[in-house]
Amino acid sequence: FLLLSLFLFSLLFHLNVFYVRISDVGIQYLTKGGSASKLRELNVSQCVLITDASVKRIARRLCKLFHLNLSFCEQLSDLALESLRSSSIGSLDITGCKIQDLGLSNLEGIRLKKLVLTGCGYVTDSGIENLCKNVRDLEHVDISHCAALSDPAVRAFSFYCRGLVTLRMSGCFKMTDLAVHYLTSGSPYLRELDVSGCVLLTDCAPQHLEKICPPLRSITMMHCRSISRAAALTLQPRVTHWEHSGDDPPLSFGYSLICTTTFSHVHVDSSTERRNLQETIGTICKNKASLRPSKVSTK
Ligand SMILES: *[C@@H]1O[C@H](CO)[C@@H](O)[C@H](O)[C@H]1NC(C)=O
Ligand SMILES: *[C@@H]1O[C@H](CO)[C@@H](O)[C@H](O)[C@H]1NC(C)=O
Repeated sequence: FLLLSLFLFSLLFHLNVFYVRISDVGIQYLTKGGSASKLRELNVSQCVLITDASVKRIARRLCKLFHLNLSFCEQLSDLALESLRSSSIGSLDITGCKIQDLGLSNLEGIRLKKLVLTGCGYVTDSGIENLCKNVRDLEHVDISHCAALSDPAVRAFSFYCRGLVTLRMSGCFKMTDLAVHYLTSGSPYLRELDVSGCVLLTDCAPQHLEKICPPLRSITMMHCRSISRAAALTLQPRVTHWEHSGDDPPLSFGYSLICTTTFSHVHVDSSTERRNLQETIGTICKNKASLRPSKVSTK
């Protein structure tokens, strides 16, 4: 099957490797073929066996490659990104990879326009800052469900990547109105924004956005319980795509243990051990859906 695909591959510019058991050996064959240099798109999503060595080979040998999809290649480390330096890659998907700040910081000499790093929980604001300093051509960015990221990450995108067109940050629960303010002052080409599940955003967010709306033409504010319907509606006539809801984020957002927003101050007795604190808060939030402590203190 693999050999047949490789034979057919000699005629193609796009390759979707749906044989998830493909290993480094398979990638070696792939990159050796005479037509390898013509390949523009490669999707090795979920090929859990391939290692950093394969990415290095891909970056070296496929010299016309533009789209590279490495999502859910769980063995890849920061070294994989380092080997993409000075490659032809312009669009990269590393969703669900165990990439950390070091990997992003080492990405340079590459004219990356699109980056999808959904669900990369280890990535922090400083990793994003270093990335943006080196990779300023970014236009389409998806940092959804990167739970560690907060306002400074958005500041970095809007400050360094002046051509930003799309930003998806659904499930980044630490973002505040300040993040939206950075976008409205620094990203003149922003067309599409998704802030779903950014539960700390208030009515100030749509107020800021009004200033860049148009050119902003798509706004998604699902599960934003602190943005009122009335404030959200002010944007509706100005855009072509508009979504808002004030309900709580679904369980798939993984917020059950994260209580971050306004409401009462919860006092946890000092007898509660530190390691149980998170659990205690989680239980409170689960049992009393309306109770969302903004402040937790221990004696
Ligand atoms: C990438 O490959 C996966 C299978 O590994 C497939 O499900 C997915 O649709 C492909 N994506 C694209 C954009 O072709
Ligand atoms: C990468 O492949 C996944 C499927 O595994 C797909 O959902 C995703 O859209 C692809 N990424 C890009 C940038 O096309």
